[in-house]
Amino acid sequence: MYNGPLLAPMVRASFTGMRRIADKLGATCVHTDVVVASNIVQASIFESENGVVFVRNVQRVLHLEKDLMHKTIIQLAGNDPVVLSEACKKLQPYCAGLDLNVGCAKEWTQGCMGVALLQQPQLLLKIVTMMVASSEKPISVKIRLLDTPQQTASLIQDLFQVGISRVTIHMRQATEDREKHCARFMDFIDVIRFVSPENSSRIAANGGILCIDDYKQFVSLCKAENIPVPPVMLARGALRYPLLFEQIRAEMGEPIVQNDLKTTSDVIQFFVNTARVNETQFILKEKGEGGPENIPLDFMKKYRFYQQFFNGYILIKSGEMVDFTQMYILRSLNSLIF
Ligand SMILES: Cc1cc2nc3c(=O)[nH]c(=O)nc-3n(C[C@H](O)[C@H](O)[C@H](O)COP(=O)(O)O)c2cc1C
Repeated sequence: MYNGPLLAPMVRASFTGMRRIADKLGATCVHTDVVVASNIVQASIFESENGVVFVRNVQRVLHLEKDLMHKTIIQLAGNDPVVLSEACKKLQPYCAGLDLNVGCAKEWTQGCMGVALLQQPQLLLKIVTMMVASSEKPISVKIRLLDTPQQTASLIQDLFQVGISRVTIHMRQATEDREKHCARFMDFIDVIRFVSPENSSRIAANGGILCIDDYKQFVSLCKAENIPVPPVMLARGALRYPLLFEQIRAEMGEPIVQNDLKTTSDVIQFFVNTARVNETQFILKEKGEGGPENIPLDFMKKYRFYQQFFNGYILIKSGEMVDFTQMYILRSLNSLIF
């Protein structure tokens, strides 16, 4: 399951449509976007023939599809060991594994969840120990690099000691921004040198692999430095070019999963259909029926109210998958015309 390539947890982007695309294109497992554990604990569960929805205060907190549960890893955030273990108990029937977010530095973490846990290793270990004890499903952790490879490796050894099944390292430090700072491939390799061989095979690499050439460069570095090539987790690369999963599988010598998505436009069509059915009110219309065309995404980002000019409908003409996933991420747009 963890052999890779893996779809990363991404807020508002690793939703069911994206998870399904990644699965079809060869991801060995797919992560949900991060969910705050207390929201799960307080949520009501609505099961249907096709899946399950967790709802809290009339808001959907999490949606999982039945036929993908065996590959889905739910990412949780929190800092209370009891709440996190309660969330694990509630979620475990619906997933293949649970992951703890120890990498996010965004505002919503309020300085006490996500990457903040790296500064509190004792609390982190207590949380993880309780998560492991309360779940029959494997528990993994996604971290960032610490100041030195020895420090990172030592934390990872401690995590494995308490029963973690896998660690993903986002190859940047806590203060580094994915848009501004390069991923630190060499630091990852140095960490692997300090981890015992039986554990090093349970570490995945994430960050800065946005196209097949990035992957090849990472692989050559690992080989040149004599470390086994780890599974990789894709985030922005998956959004920009989902066929990257297939390319990486081919590069790994893995069999290509048979599917009907051959081009970016197949992927977009699939995305639209899946999203329409499961997530939001997408509306399909033939091109040329009126309405604005070719609205640049940047423009829409700046002027979210723009949708109101067109009765709530926006027509996007784009051959880039990323435009569509970005549109979804904006969320304020819940009606798209293709
Ligand atoms: C839109 C978006 C949302 C993200 N949300 C999460 C999240 O929910 N949990 C998490 O651990 N990381 C999150 N990340 C970070 C990614 O999982 C990943 O660590 C980071 O983007 C580096 O990988 P990349 O260089 O391949 O994009 C997010 C990244 C993006 C682009």
